[in-house]
Amino acid sequence: MELPFAEPYRAKTVETIRRTTREERERALERASYNLFNIKAEDVFVDLLTDSGTGAMSSAQWAEMMLGDESYAGASSYYKLADSVREILGFERFLPTHQGRAAENVLFSTLIGVGAAGVGKIVPGNAHFDTTKGHIEARGASAVDCTIDEAFDPDSDFPFKGNVDLGKLKAALGSKPRDMIPLCIVTTTCNTAGGQPVSMANLRAVSELCRSRGVPLFIDAARFAENAWFIKQREEGYAGKTAREIALQMLSYADGCTMSSKKDGLVNIGGLLCFRDEELMRRAMPYNIMYEGFNTYGGMAGRDMGALSVGLREATEPEYLESRIRQVALLGRALEGRGVRVVRPYGGHAIFVDALRALPRVPREEFPAQTLAIEVYREGGVRGVEIGAILADRDPVTRENRYPRLELLRLAVPRRTYTDNHMEYVAAVLGAAAERGDRITRGYRIVREAPIMRHFTVELEPAAGSAAR
Ligand code: F0G
Repeated sequence: MELPFAEPYRAKTVETIRRTTREERERALERASYNLFNIKAEDVFVDLLTDSGTGAMSSAQWAEMMLGDESYAGASSYYKLADSVREILGFERFLPTHQGRAAENVLFSTLIGVGAAGVGKIVPGNAHFDTTKGHIEARGASAVDCTIDEAFDPDSDFPFKGNVDLGKLKAALGSKPRDMIPLCIVTTTCNTAGGQPVSMANLRAVSELCRSRGVPLFIDAARFAENAWFIKQREEGYAGKTAREIALQMLSYADGCTMSSKKDGLVNIGGLLCFRDEELMRRAMPYNIMYEGFNTYGGMAGRDMGALSVGLREATEPEYLESRIRQVALLGRALEGRGVRVVRPYGGHAIFVDALRALPRVPREEFPAQTLAIEVYREGGVRGVEIGAILADRDPVTRENRYPRLELLRLAVPRRTYTDNHMEYVAAVLGAAAERGDRITRGYRIVREAPIMRHFTVELEPAAGSAAR
């Protein structure tokens, strides 16, 4: 008999989460100006706002925390992390940073420059994450999205929707002189494209193209292990390889990587900036020292580097990856079982709910994905995040709202944190909200917003006519 699946861990410590009443949630929403970032975490029952820094550490990681060496320079925790980075990511050189966006800041300061040094420059890649794009645009440069067209079709079952379109990349690389293309960056898995993986064949082809133009290729490795697992499952020739072998091969095509270790590093805070080339790392060091900290701790405490050294190994264990990817898929299937339309295939770290189908009558100007996020919190204390017009923000030139092709509610699953019962609960809550979807005709209106990254602080009110809920 084949034994049934069960999680490869058991709980040693538990954290109580509290169910609130509908009235309490209604008041919390009002106090938060209908922005879920303003809701107190203690008023959330199942928190799927992000998979970033929200996972549970293992007892081995906690033990390493106690061994943390807090020496300013040359701490033993740094050398433990260096061993893991070499073994798991295949890089001999790296700088620790406090999180992923800090690694981006140091890298782009080195390769693009500071101030307006980026004007006229381009950084091609697959759909860049918000902070990646922010750091590129803040320097006056442009992020050129070369993701394949399949990524924009929520019903396409293409197995590698994070792939770079080689034709688009070739065109981008040919559109400027070499010195105006400081680097190309490929995100694995591609969060912005729905947590979708990039195939090994695609990474290899991208690296060949970049090399032929002399443009350095960096990988955003935030979710490198989940990407490796998808390659093992879906790409011909990799079924017999381990996730670790696949991850090493993926990263071997790059000149370096940035990593938010709050994802596949299985820690609550931390980041990495890895390099193949010693000269390039030397150029980056002064920025790391200025923005983050000395080169052997960067933005991290010794204990955090110790926990990350263990987390990188645990995140590439087959038993862990199987249970991780399986739980996210379980949420996807449970939602579909209740008639909720989600982006296919299921992402590695999150399920993306199609809000235009769940709330077909809410006008685009009244933010259907945000409206759904609010409904889902109101219904059952579940917190997701809007990936729609609020996040897409205004056009920097015309200041008009930008309306993306899709309005999505992202349900990101923290690692090793919730049980399958929580996933079933989330699906039931969403199912109930979507069942009322036809009757919800109005959404929300912006009362106050920041000039950039407005989604974090935006204040909203119900659009006229929705007051009687
Ligand atoms: N790259 C990717 C692909 C990310 O998803 C993130 C963060 C970052 C870089 C930045 O890393 O947060 O450590 O500074 N994503 C989180 C999310 C915030 O919710 O998707 P960070």
